[in-house]
Amino acid sequence: MLLKADRLTKSFAGTLAVDHVSFALAPGETLALIGHSGCGKTTTLKMLNRLIEPDEGTVTLGGVRAHDMPGHEWRRRIGFVIQNAGLFPHKTVAENVLVTPKLLGWETARQQAKLEALLDMVGLPARDYAGRYPGELSGGQRQRVGLARALAGEPDIVLMDEPFAALDPLTKDGLIADIARMREELGFAAVLVTHDFSEALRLADRIAVMDGGQIVQTGTANELITAPATPAVEDLLAAPRQMAATVGKAFREAGA
Ligand SMILES: Nc1ncnc2c1ncn2[C@@H]1O[C@H](COP(=O)(O)OP(=O)(O)OP(=O)(O)O)[C@@H](O)[C@H]1O
Ligand SMILES: [Mg+2]
Repeated sequence: MLLKADRLTKSFAGTLAVDHVSFALAPGETLALIGHSGCGKTTTLKMLNRLIEPDEGTVTLGGVRAHDMPGHEWRRRIGFVIQNAGLFPHKTVAENVLVTPKLLGWETARQQAKLEALLDMVGLPARDYAGRYPGELSGGQRQRVGLARALAGEPDIVLMDEPFAALDPLTKDGLIADIARMREELGFAAVLVTHDFSEALRLADRIAVMDGGQIVQTGTANELITAPATPAVEDLLAAPRQMAATVGKAFREAGA
């Protein structure tokens, strides 16, 4: 296994935010962590990335425990697309994307080549976008820059915290397709945090449902749909099921 989370636990001021969460991620695999607001998704991702120290439990990367690897090396191998893009507002797109390569001391030519390749992949050609500031971009473009930044250090794993939040459906579809294509090309594994089952359906190999700080079920979309383990899992399926029925009916009535 590439990444293993074992009984990760974290409380804030005596309240359990994440409660003995365990899962494993194989190379190239995408796992979706899905659940309602406040169920502990971001806290879990931050413990994977060592931005938050767990109270209990361990994370291993390629069999190496977190404390046996320097923090900077750990974070190079695990890219993080932060909730709401999290770009530095006073840095240009190029400076934002190149944060990790700079820290790693890459030569300028290698940095430039990486910048151009990544900005092309996320559909923001360097000649038009490299010099812009985050404030000069749309929300969808900022998310794309956040993705390019997370991939700049050539990580084995990318953690994505609601990368599609607040995007209109077409922009979201485009970004989902781009992530799927980049994953094919670059071969990274991913943990995708979302509260939208349809996003998880489109990108994830497996889905882990969180409720009250715990993972209550892990399975393929098919397994969750056919045998939801708890009311929380059924809850998450209710809206997409309703949507599928409504849209399906409209299309049938239109004879399409
Ligand atoms: N730094 C913090 N200090 C105190 N409480 C926190 C802190 N960070 C998170 N929490 C609490 O821990 C719980 C889990 O928060 P977390 O951010 O992990 O949820 P989430 O699933 O990512 O939610 P959302 O979907 O809204 O982003 C919440 O009850 C939250 O209020
Ligand atoms: Mg969150």
